[in-house]
Amino acid sequence: MTILVTGGAGFIGGNFVLDWLARHDETLVNLDALTYAGNLETLKSVQAHPGHVFVHGDILDSALLDQLLARHQPRAVIHFAAESHVDRSIHGPMAFIQTNIIGTFQLLESARRYWQGLEARRQQDFRFLHVSTDEVYGSLAADDAPFSERHPQQPNSPYSASKASSDHLVRAWHHTYGLPVLTTNCSNNYGPYHFPEKLIPLVILNALAGEPLPIYGDGLQVRDWLFVSDHCSAVRRVLEAGRAGETYNVGGCNEKTNLEVVRTICSLLDGLRPRADGRSYAEQIRFVSDRPGHDRRYAIDAGKLERELGWRPAETFDSGIRKTIEWYLANAEWTAHVRDGSYRDWVSKQYG
Ligand code: NAD
Ligand code: TYD
Repeated sequence: MTILVTGGAGFIGGNFVLDWLARHDETLVNLDALTYAGNLETLKSVQAHPGHVFVHGDILDSALLDQLLARHQPRAVIHFAAESHVDRSIHGPMAFIQTNIIGTFQLLESARRYWQGLEARRQQDFRFLHVSTDEVYGSLAADDAPFSERHPQQPNSPYSASKASSDHLVRAWHHTYGLPVLTTNCSNNYGPYHFPEKLIPLVILNALAGEPLPIYGDGLQVRDWLFVSDHCSAVRRVLEAGRAGETYNVGGCNEKTNLEVVRTICSLLDGLRPRADGRSYAEQIRFVSDRPGHDRRYAIDAGKLERELGWRPAETFDSGIRKTIEWYLANAEWTAHVRDGSYRDWVSKQYG
């Protein structure tokens, strides 16, 4: 048995690959284009793992997709690959249209061709699991109920619009062609191997480097944080028992303002790695210009996933953020290579 994962050198995909290989004997084919967000150092511990087949390639390359599916005969495709950073989507939306929309389209088409050629039993068991985000639902007011799966999609950024487009394609491939798809819409993740352009790793590493901790606008925007291994367990559970054609929201019931998150990180760091001058890291906080079109609040109702599939997160925000900070403190080499750009050397060393 084999699964095909896309984007398995990124933050969530990388955690998923490591967790999967630690738990299963099944071969995992990992297709990743190694954009700036792909980091093979994350996968160092499974480089020689017999169950891990890494393929450097692009989901836009349909010939490669057809070839991989034909060669490895996976029972499932789990699609993490994407451009994922809202701020980058504001500066340069084209890559988001290419990878998130056209790339998902190419992957769906290759999966459909492959799936249609399978014998009946394998066709029935096949799954295409699309990993998406709560950002497709748009922004909530302070007293609105959290997003359910039935909330209208009202994306506000080029990133979330491209992800919403991909969700619609996935849905259509099920309704029109019968492809057995599953979609997960997850809230903000944090944890090990997170690229430090996103709030939590950026704040941890800037704090340690004595640099400013930038807070956009008033810092009162709310995100619903989920520790990454809980997202991975939700994806595994949906893959195992989700009903084809359904979408499942994934979230941790951990709504926090950005300011609360940053202050929590500062106070944990004050205890774990005090500043040489004895002052608090919170003194490095700086309010900066707001993100254009900044969504005010995201919150997820993950009740369907809990009721139907029995999934619950294992970590609270307090336990997860402590583990995350401890991980960054213990993995100075990974973080140094990300910050100085030398993680990219792995690509040239491996692929010339
Ligand atoms: P990431 O940016 O850390 O990683 C993306 C990975 O995809 C990288 O390894 C990159 O090299 C690869 N990739 C990009 N374009 C590719 C292409 N054209 N072909 C093949 N590989 C390509 O992203 P992430 O934070 O790990 O997010 C993974 C998925 O989860 C995304 O689909 C994202 O929308 C979704 N998601 C993320 C969050 C979050 O908080 N980070 C929350 C919910 C959902
Ligand atoms: P981010 O980690 O980029 O995730 P997303 O935009 O997908 O939610 O940002 C999380 C929140 O933190 C978001 O409200 C923007 C804010 N933010 C800052 O205030 N400062 C920063 O430097 C960054 C990167 C984000």
